[in-house]
Amino acid sequence: MILPIYIYGHPVLREETKEIAPEYPDLKQLIENMFETMYNAEGIGLAAPQIGLPVRLFVIDLEPLAEDEPKYAGFRKVFINAKIVEEFGNEVKMNEGCLSIPGISESVERNSSIRIQYMDENFVPHEEEYTDFFARCIQHEYDHIEGILFVDKITPIRKQLIKSKLSNLIKGRTNCHYKVRAVKK
Ligand code: NI
Repeated sequence: MILPIYIYGHPVLREETKEIAPEYPDLKQLIENMFETMYNAEGIGLAAPQIGLPVRLFVIDLEPLAEDEPKYAGFRKVFINAKIVEEFGNEVKMNEGCLSIPGISESVERNSSIRIQYMDENFVPHEEEYTDFFARCIQHEYDHIEGILFVDKITPIRKQLIKSKLSNLIKGRTNCHYKVRAVKK
Protein backbone atom coordinates (compact mmCIF):
# COMPACT_ATOMS: atom_id res chain seq x y z
CA MET A 1 0.00 0.00 0.00
CA ILE A 2 1.31 3.41 -0.95
CA LEU A 3 1.23 5.81 1.99
CA PRO A 4 1.28 9.62 1.91
CA ILE A 5 4.68 11.18 2.57
CA TYR A 6 4.72 13.84 5.27
CA ILE A 7 6.14 17.14 4.12
CA TYR A 8 8.53 19.65 5.71
CA GLY A 9 6.79 21.54 8.49
CA HIS A 10 4.84 18.56 9.78
CA PRO A 11 5.66 18.09 13.46
CA VAL A 12 6.00 14.29 13.16
CA LEU A 13 9.28 14.85 11.28
CA ARG A 14 10.66 16.44 14.47
CA GLU A 15 9.15 14.10 17.03
CA GLU A 16 11.25 11.92 19.29
CA THR A 17 11.19 8.37 17.92
CA LYS A 18 10.57 5.15 19.84
CA GLU A 19 12.42 1.87 19.50
CA ILE A 20 10.65 -1.00 17.79
CA ALA A 21 9.99 -4.26 19.65
CA PRO A 22 9.86 -7.60 17.77
CA GLU A 23 6.12 -7.80 18.50
CA TYR A 24 5.44 -4.44 16.89
CA PRO A 25 2.09 -4.95 15.12
CA ASP A 26 2.21 -5.73 11.38
CA LEU A 27 5.88 -4.81 11.10
CA LYS A 28 6.42 -6.88 7.94
CA GLN A 29 3.50 -5.15 6.26
CA LEU A 30 4.73 -1.74 7.40
CA ILE A 31 8.19 -2.40 5.94
CA GLU A 32 6.64 -3.58 2.67
CA ASN A 33 4.48 -0.45 2.54
CA MET A 34 7.51 1.74 3.14
CA PHE A 35 9.40 0.17 0.24
CA GLU A 36 6.34 0.49 -1.99
CA THR A 37 5.86 4.14 -0.99
CA MET A 38 9.52 4.87 -1.61
CA TYR A 39 9.59 3.19 -5.04
CA ASN A 40 6.42 5.03 -6.04
CA ALA A 41 8.07 8.34 -5.12
CA GLU A 42 11.30 7.31 -6.87
CA GLY A 43 13.35 7.64 -3.70
CA ILE A 44 16.26 5.53 -2.50
CA GLY A 45 15.59 5.88 1.22
CA LEU A 46 12.60 6.40 3.50
CA ALA A 47 12.31 6.74 7.27
CA ALA A 48 9.21 5.95 9.35
CA PRO A 49 8.63 9.58 10.48
CA GLN A 50 8.18 10.44 6.79
CA ILE A 51 5.06 8.29 6.75
CA GLY A 52 3.88 9.72 10.05
CA LEU A 53 5.28 7.13 12.45
CA PRO A 54 7.77 8.34 15.07
CA VAL A 55 9.65 5.01 15.36
CA ARG A 56 13.27 4.00 14.75
CA LEU A 57 12.93 2.36 11.36
CA PHE A 58 14.20 3.23 7.90
CA VAL A 59 14.69 1.49 4.59
CA ILE A 60 17.17 2.00 1.76
CA ASP A 61 17.33 0.52 -1.74
CA LEU A 62 20.11 1.66 -4.03
CA GLU A 63 19.18 -0.70 -6.87
CA PRO A 64 17.89 2.19 -9.07
CA LEU A 65 21.49 3.49 -9.18
CA ALA A 66 22.97 0.13 -10.18
CA GLU A 67 22.52 0.69 -13.89
CA ASP A 68 25.22 3.38 -13.78
CA GLU A 69 27.14 2.02 -10.78
CA PRO A 70 27.10 -1.78 -10.43
CA LYS A 71 28.37 -1.58 -6.82
CA TYR A 72 24.90 -0.43 -5.73
CA ALA A 73 23.19 -3.57 -7.09
CA GLY A 74 21.28 -5.53 -4.48
CA PHE A 75 21.74 -3.00 -1.68
CA ARG A 76 18.26 -3.25 -0.21
CA LYS A 77 18.21 -2.95 3.55
CA VAL A 78 15.97 -2.45 6.55
CA PHE A 79 17.40 -0.68 9.61
CA ILE A 80 15.58 -1.18 12.91
CA ASN A 81 16.65 0.60 16.12
CA ALA A 82 19.80 1.80 14.39
CA LYS A 83 22.53 3.59 16.25
CA ILE A 84 25.48 5.25 14.54
CA VAL A 85 28.27 4.58 17.01
CA GLU A 86 31.03 6.34 15.13
CA GLU A 87 31.45 8.80 12.28
CA PHE A 88 34.91 9.22 10.80
CA GLY A 89 36.86 9.99 7.66
CA ASN A 90 37.02 13.18 5.62
CA GLU A 91 34.21 15.69 5.64
CA VAL A 92 32.68 15.57 2.19
CA LYS A 93 30.11 17.87 0.58
CA MET A 94 27.45 16.44 -1.68
CA ASN A 95 24.02 17.52 -2.87
CA GLU A 96 21.10 15.86 -1.12
CA GLY A 97 17.38 15.80 -1.61
CA CYS A 98 14.54 14.36 0.45
CA LEU A 99 11.06 13.06 -0.35
CA SER A 100 9.77 15.22 2.53
CA ILE A 101 11.37 18.34 1.03
CA PRO A 102 10.42 18.11 -2.64
CA GLY A 103 11.98 20.49 -5.13
CA ILE A 104 14.98 21.35 -2.96
CA SER A 105 18.49 20.02 -3.29
CA GLU A 106 21.39 21.41 -1.28
CA SER A 107 25.00 20.64 -0.49
CA VAL A 108 25.46 18.88 2.86
CA GLU A 109 28.76 18.19 4.56
CA ARG A 110 29.15 14.79 6.22
CA ASN A 111 31.88 12.44 7.37
CA SER A 112 32.70 9.89 4.69
CA SER A 113 32.45 6.83 6.96
CA ILE A 114 30.27 5.44 9.72
CA ARG A 115 30.00 2.47 11.99
CA ILE A 116 26.40 1.49 12.72
CA GLN A 117 24.58 -1.01 14.90
CA TYR A 118 21.07 -2.03 13.86
CA MET A 119 18.66 -4.90 13.52
CA ASP A 120 17.42 -6.18 10.21
CA GLU A 121 13.80 -7.07 9.43
CA ASN A 122 14.28 -10.43 11.20
CA PHE A 123 15.68 -8.73 14.32
CA VAL A 124 19.14 -10.10 13.64
CA PRO A 125 21.67 -7.62 15.08
CA HIS A 126 24.44 -6.20 12.88
CA GLU A 127 27.40 -3.93 13.37
CA GLU A 128 28.85 -2.70 10.09
CA GLU A 129 30.99 0.01 8.54
CA TYR A 130 29.98 1.98 5.49
CA THR A 131 31.74 4.61 3.43
CA ASP A 132 31.01 7.19 0.76
CA PHE A 133 27.53 7.14 -0.77
CA PHE A 134 26.41 4.13 1.29
CA ALA A 135 27.32 6.02 4.45
CA ARG A 136 25.67 9.22 3.22
CA CYS A 137 22.35 7.52 2.52
CA ILE A 138 22.37 5.89 5.94
CA GLN A 139 23.35 9.18 7.64
CA HIS A 140 20.49 10.99 5.89
CA GLU A 141 17.90 8.39 6.93
CA TYR A 142 19.39 8.10 10.41
CA ASP A 143 18.97 11.86 10.80
CA HIS A 144 15.25 11.40 10.13
CA ILE A 145 14.85 9.11 13.12
CA GLU A 146 16.74 11.73 15.17
CA GLY A 147 14.30 14.43 14.02
CA ILE A 148 16.93 16.08 11.83
CA LEU A 149 16.45 17.16 8.20
CA PHE A 150 19.20 17.89 5.69
CA VAL A 151 18.18 21.56 5.48
CA ASP A 152 19.22 21.86 9.15
CA LYS A 153 22.78 21.21 8.02
CA ILE A 154 23.18 23.75 5.22
CA THR A 155 24.88 27.11 5.53
CA PRO A 156 22.86 30.09 6.87
CA ILE A 157 23.15 31.78 3.48
CA ARG A 158 21.75 28.79 1.61
CA LYS A 159 19.01 28.46 4.21
CA GLN A 160 18.06 32.10 3.63
CA LEU A 161 17.97 31.51 -0.13
CA ILE A 162 15.53 28.59 0.15
CA LYS A 163 13.39 30.19 2.88
CA SER A 164 10.46 30.99 0.61
CA LYS A 165 10.52 27.49 -0.91
CA LEU A 166 10.40 25.99 2.58
CA SER A 167 7.54 28.25 3.63
CA ASN A 168 5.62 27.14 0.53
CA LEU A 169 6.06 23.52 1.64
CA ILE A 170 4.75 24.42 5.10
CA LYS A 171 1.73 26.04 3.44
CA GLY A 172 1.05 22.83 1.55
CA ARG A 173 2.17 24.18 -1.80
CA THR A 174 3.90 21.15 -3.25
CA ASN A 175 4.12 19.89 -6.76
CA CYS A 176 4.81 16.18 -6.38
CA HIS A 177 3.87 13.21 -8.47
CA TYR A 178 3.38 11.23 -5.25
CA LYS A 179 0.81 11.47 -2.46
CA VAL A 180 1.82 13.86 0.33
CA ARG A 181 0.55 15.19 3.64
CA ALA A 182 1.45 18.75 4.50
CA VAL A 183 0.89 20.49 7.84
CA LYS A 184 -1.63 22.88 6.26
CA LYS A 185 -3.92 22.00 3.39
NI1 NI B 1 14.95 12.39 3.62
